Amino acid sequence: MSDPILVTGAAGFIGFHTALRLLESGQKVVGIDNLNDYYDVTIKEARLKLLQAYPEFTFVKIDIAETENMKVMWAKYGPFAKVVHLAAQAGVRYSLQNPYAYISSNVLGHLNILECCRFTEGFQHLVYASSSSVYGGNEKLPFSVQDRVDSPISLYAATKRSDELMSHAYAHLYRFPQTGLRFFTVYGPWGRPDMALFIFTKAICEGEKLPVFNNGEMKRDFTYIDDIVSGVLAVLENPPEDNGKDAPQRVLNIGNTKSEDLMDFVRLIEKELGKSADIDFKPMQAGDVQETYADVHETTEVAGYKPTTSIYEGVPKFIEWYKEYYKVS
Ligand SMILES: NC(=O)c1ccc[n+]([C@@H]2O[C@H](COP(=O)([O-])OP(=O)(O)OC[C@H]3O[C@@H](n4cnc5c(N)ncnc54)[C@H](O)[C@@H]3O)[C@@H](O)[C@H]2O)c1
Repeated sequence: MSDPILVTGAAGFIGFHTALRLLESGQKVVGIDNLNDYYDVTIKEARLKLLQAYPEFTFVKIDIAETENMKVMWAKYGPFAKVVHLAAQAGVRYSLQNPYAYISSNVLGHLNILECCRFTEGFQHLVYASSSSVYGGNEKLPFSVQDRVDSPISLYAATKRSDELMSHAYAHLYRFPQTGLRFFTVYGPWGRPDMALFIFTKAICEGEKLPVFNNGEMKRDFTYIDDIVSGVLAVLENPPEDNGKDAPQRVLNIGNTKSEDLMDFVRLIEKELGKSADIDFKPMQAGDVQETYADVHETTEVAGYKPTTSIYEGVPKFIEWYKEYYKVS
């Protein structure tokens, strides 16, 4: 049996699916999460319950921003040679309301992970979540990791860009391999209640008004969760090499490489639910971007990443899960 892999944010949407895939392949996993109430905690607990059915899974409730507790956890359950770091305060809009949560979890929390990795002998690879939101208001499409990302338009994006910069400094100074993954709008079963697909499905099911921002004139590169997990784990097995010169780190995009019209997405949900949406068009929200679209060719080169799930396959899978989980007929 190989050493355990640490998955941070294991009760979260992407962390849960990543831990599950690792456990299904027979890998030992230590999952950590502070189970905060940014969204419904019962869904985090339900995800955890599924993970806890595996004897190779250990859960530790901890806040990654607590430096001393993190060191104690690392010594007790580790040391870890491979880390998938997904714990963060997510959400663009909430960063306008509670900015301190982002500095605590995303900046101090990221530093604590870097410090733990730094002092681990034989450390192999830190893969951490960045976000497509670092591209801010960039107009050149598709977004490429070669593009400049110096103009974040939300604090959330600024903290994710900070993570990339901190990781670069640590890889340069302490020579441990790291990869930051810029995820593009992830969706699928067990998805986040604060994200569009969940909000739209709930509103249509409950016959409530469905808020659509920027009068629906938005485009998103929607990435199905199974493609994300395949990408994360393929990247994890392919750490950047240290050529003795450049910092052994890189940043990669993980998207579906298609920019979908938000209104097509809404129509697809309506079709799947067999119900019409009562749409409430609203202006653009502060901090939001109008379009995202990923260029993933570096990710394909590095790890063979190739997304295979279209929204026409993925959305029905989410809706099937939603109806079963919430007992909607
Ligand atoms: N879902 C997306 O579309 C998307 C897009 C871009 C980037 N990301 C990033 O991917 C990662 C995973 O996102 P997700 O969608 O699974 O979000 P999520 O909110 O479902 O998962 C994050 C988990 O981290 C935990 N957490 C937050 N702060 C913590 C702290 N201080 N200590 C310990 N645990 C903490 C939360 O309780 C949660 O369970 C995040 O870093 C997010 O910023 C997600």
